[in-house]
Amino acid sequence: MYVINIGQLHICLPQDVTRLSGHDMATAATISDAWLSVSADGTIEQIGPMVSFDFSLSSQHEIIDARGGYVLPAFCDSHTHIVYSGTRDGEFLDKINGLSYEEIAKRGGGILNSADRLHDTSEDELFRQSLERAREMMAKGTGALEIKSGYGLNTADELKMLRVAARIRESIPADVKITFLGAHAVGRAFVGRQTDYVDMLISEMLPAVAADGLAEYVDVFCDKGFFTVDETDRILEAAAKYGMLPKIHANELDCSGGVQIGVKHNALSVDHLERMGKDEIDVLRTSNTVATMLPGASFFLGMPYAPARQAIDAGLTVALASDYNPGSSPSGDMRMVWALACIKMKLTPAEALAACTINGAAAMGLSDVVGAITPGRRASFIITKPMPSLAFIPYAYTTPWIGSIYLRGKIVK
Ligand code: NIG
Ligand code: FE
Repeated sequence: MYVINIGQLHICLPQDVTRLSGHDMATAATISDAWLSVSADGTIEQIGPMVSFDFSLSSQHEIIDARGGYVLPAFCDSHTHIVYSGTRDGEFLDKINGLSYEEIAKRGGGILNSADRLHDTSEDELFRQSLERAREMMAKGTGALEIKSGYGLNTADELKMLRVAARIRESIPADVKITFLGAHAVGRAFVGRQTDYVDMLISEMLPAVAADGLAEYVDVFCDKGFFTVDETDRILEAAAKYGMLPKIHANELDCSGGVQIGVKHNALSVDHLERMGKDEIDVLRTSNTVATMLPGASFFLGMPYAPARQAIDAGLTVALASDYNPGSSPSGDMRMVWALACIKMKLTPAEALAACTINGAAAMGLSDVVGAITPGRRASFIITKPMPSLAFIPYAYTTPWIGSIYLRGKIVK
């Protein structure tokens, strides 16, 4: 298959470039007036300028005319919690009436509320609801995503969530990575006994998750009112024995020490970072850990935005993700994330696109496969409607912009 008359081809990176850091984020190569070809196995075969296109190919191959629309890599959303049951729109009203995220959690709402619902939902029904969210994300341009557990909070329900995530992976053309987040909150049966919960997580949950090969990564909500740095240290050390790399929730509610402990354990990413200062930026500069920021949660909870501009200026690898979850970010729309990054965090459209694609892929350990338009990487891309500029997409942030979406070389929308 050939896609021709592409107005601009974005994020054209060589195969050996697997992340963009600092000012390189603004300068990923673009080809104007381009074509690309897709092989039968769903990878990108060749890219080039239209002047080099051999029109005699048209008679033997499928030709897609982009009519001047742009081609972008499908979004790589490296932080989601899409396996959950029902919604939390009741808490939305509490929030409107002035309760904070922490106050809602303290009153037994929040994560524990979702855990109760998940417990009462059959595995098949949970799969049905969660698959719908994954499909919604793909229809909005996401081609790779990470899914966390963390609404089970006991061994059986955590395993149930992870099996559902694995079924989603089998059912969709997007790439999926799965993360065990047993340390999202203390489960109901252990309320008031946090240390016992962590002991149980290490002695019972982790071995069970590893025995079934259900997760490649581990996460801990290392923050004020949730898990301490010492507890995080213990959990990450235990998980390392099973080969699970950390991707952790850090510095959402406080300067939690989460960034430092993540870097100590060579985390693939530290995520949230709304309360990140110079110390954290300095620590991240010494590491390969991706700084993942979730502006949808800041928007929804009315929190400060993570200091993305400073992080990029300091040379860090910044990724953006949706954090799609029922409590702090009930949206998996990466175009909205892109817009928030430009409007609220002062990223340029090109920097934010790099953060939503190649760097999101890096935060999932997938950037040799997805996240850029490269011969040899997956043919997972978005063809836009004709565009005046790349900036138009995050600028006119509710104007329909997607012409079609291809994942692994097959049209999905
Ligand atoms: O990433 N911060 C922790 N976890 C989620 C929220 C989960 C929930 O409220 O259900 C987040 O924002
Ligand atoms: Fe999260």
